[in-house]
Amino acid sequence: MQAPTSTSDVHAAGPRWQLTQIDFARIDVDNVRARDDLFLLVCSASFVESGTDTYTRNLVTYFAQDAEFGAWLQQRWEPEELQHGRALRAYFERVWPEYDWQRAYDGFFDEYARLCVVDALEPTRGQELVARCIVETGTTTYYQALADLCGEPVLAELASRIRNDEVGHYKQFYRQFLKYRDREGLRRAHVAAAIWRRVAELRRSDADIALRHAAQLRGLDAAFAPRELYARLATLYPVELAVRMALKPLRLRAGMQRWAERPLGAVMRHWLQ
Ligand SMILES: [Fe+2]
Ligand SMILES: [Fe+2]
Repeated sequence: MQAPTSTSDVHAAGPRWQLTQIDFARIDVDNVRARDDLFLLVCSASFVESGTDTYTRNLVTYFAQDAEFGAWLQQRWEPEELQHGRALRAYFERVWPEYDWQRAYDGFFDEYARLCVVDALEPTRGQELVARCIVETGTTTYYQALADLCGEPVLAELASRIRNDEVGHYKQFYRQFLKYRDREGLRRAHVAAAIWRRVAELRRSDADIALRHAAQLRGLDAAFAPRELYARLATLYPVELAVRMALKPLRLRAGMQRWAERPLGAVMRHWLQ
């Protein structure tokens, strides 16, 4: 992925696509209904995306002195993340109307909101932007894997649209990171520390809570569900893309980047097993 150079994205308001563009009537409901994996992946993703506004508020507060970036967070990033939640919920309720999504979401949110406090942000704004790049790396690669795994055209289209939004978020967070990196005089060690903290966090955070609540809703053994699912996702997970995006804020020279990609890719494949 190339470093973004455009600044026009900052001023655009609202999501880049609308829910009405998704033809939910085309879903092959009979085929999808029986699949526990899609139940868990769609349901847990809808929980995490729907809870985004709590985090957005924290970020907007953190970047309150930055009018331009704050406006982008409120007018582009938050509406898109919330639309992701609405779209995934609409898909879920179309296929599994008998489940009480709202009740399960409330249970998820109760637990999730306790983790989502301003104190959990990185010590500097530049480092927080590195952390946001890692989160968007996680979502980009998750939806790419979901699009490849699902075998259902409407969900594949939805996951691809969301994936493209997450790439756009990554690019904006990365561009803002470059600005704050210069402003704060961030060194590579600071960037590496922020990457490391957020990657460690990804393994035990909101996605796990969401998956546990989704599994409970389906009446599945929560301990069983992630292991089975991660094994399936691991076969399709775009490891090279994840490593490339995660390392980008370090701004390594090309040779150094290639040298670092291999062992990190191996570590990530090991995690996914
Ligand atoms: Fe999202
Ligand atoms: Fe995003």
